[in-house]
Amino acid sequence: MHLPEHLPLAHLPTPIQAMPRLSDALGVEVLVKRDDLTGSHLSGNKVRKLEFLLARAAHEGATHVVTCGGVQSNHCRATALAAAPLGMKPVLLLRTPHGRPDELPEPPTGNVLLDRLAGATLHLCDPAGYRERTRRMAELARAITAEGGRPFVIPEGGSDALGALGYVRCAAEIAEQLPDALPSSVVVATGSGGTVAGLALGFRALELPVRTVGVAVCDDEATFMGIAADIAAEARTRYGLQAPADEGLRIVDGFQGRGYALSTPDELALLRDTARLDGLVLDPVYTLKAFRALLSLAPSGALGPRVLFVHTGGIFGLFAASDALAPLL
Ligand SMILES: Cc1ncc(COP(=O)(O)O)c(C=O)c1O
Repeated sequence: MHLPEHLPLAHLPTPIQAMPRLSDALGVEVLVKRDDLTGSHLSGNKVRKLEFLLARAAHEGATHVVTCGGVQSNHCRATALAAAPLGMKPVLLLRTPHGRPDELPEPPTGNVLLDRLAGATLHLCDPAGYRERTRRMAELARAITAEGGRPFVIPEGGSDALGALGYVRCAAEIAEQLPDALPSSVVVATGSGGTVAGLALGFRALELPVRTVGVAVCDDEATFMGIAADIAAEARTRYGLQAPADEGLRIVDGFQGRGYALSTPDELALLRDTARLDGLVLDPVYTLKAFRALLSLAPSGALGPRVLFVHTGGIFGLFAASDALAPLL
């Protein structure tokens, strides 16, 4: 596998941890790949993608990095914190219910606090405006160019073929860590598709019989299969990676709950109970929903005998949800 240059932003390899009490309860061995530990404030799955994306930005002499996400986006926070020390000004397009500045948490909480600490410029839009995010980011980029800057635009979630290479490398890291006991399935939360697509490409490139299961936390199976196919096509042309066969990649629907970034009391009770079982602290937006899918699918044997759950981070979103969690404690 010959991949393009990357910056060493993540603390790697992340540990793989046993979940003895959960494994006993489910009757299936469950391990957790702790990608929430890729760093402290600069942490979670996005850091692996940014290693490749920001290397390209630096190579192109970018002065500004433009990207987008929901108001408490982990991707935007990680991009802002990684870009600033590289001398690139972060410019974020954030989605709020009505695109109004008074919808930002005041005082700033969670990821927004870190965006502000990193000195990011925040632009807001409503959901309709966000559907036009590609055009909106192109406009922001044009304005930067007009002022003499050099913008580098990162798509939502860093989910293009270049960003997905971070998870192609992660598949190789998992294979090195578990040489004699590969997981039958790897389960991961799926929000913009790059993580699941990269893992599936990585296991395919190494010809390993590991099924990659992405749990949709928004949109649906068809959307993410389409995104994964687009990423695979681009990865083939640019980096010579072959797409995984059908059995290598599965997207699971049905665990989106009330929708993106919305929680039910039952989900939040599971978050609490999971913290108390094996000390695994999940985030409400991504990892909790993927973990619910794992709990539902594993007992039937659908994930095989050895399941590796990738904890993709999101701790700052958890703190931003403290109002909803407080009544359950
Ligand atoms: C904590 C966390 N987990 C999972 C995901 C999903 O990853 P992807 O966008 O690559 O599907 C994201 C970002 O969207 C995230 O912030």
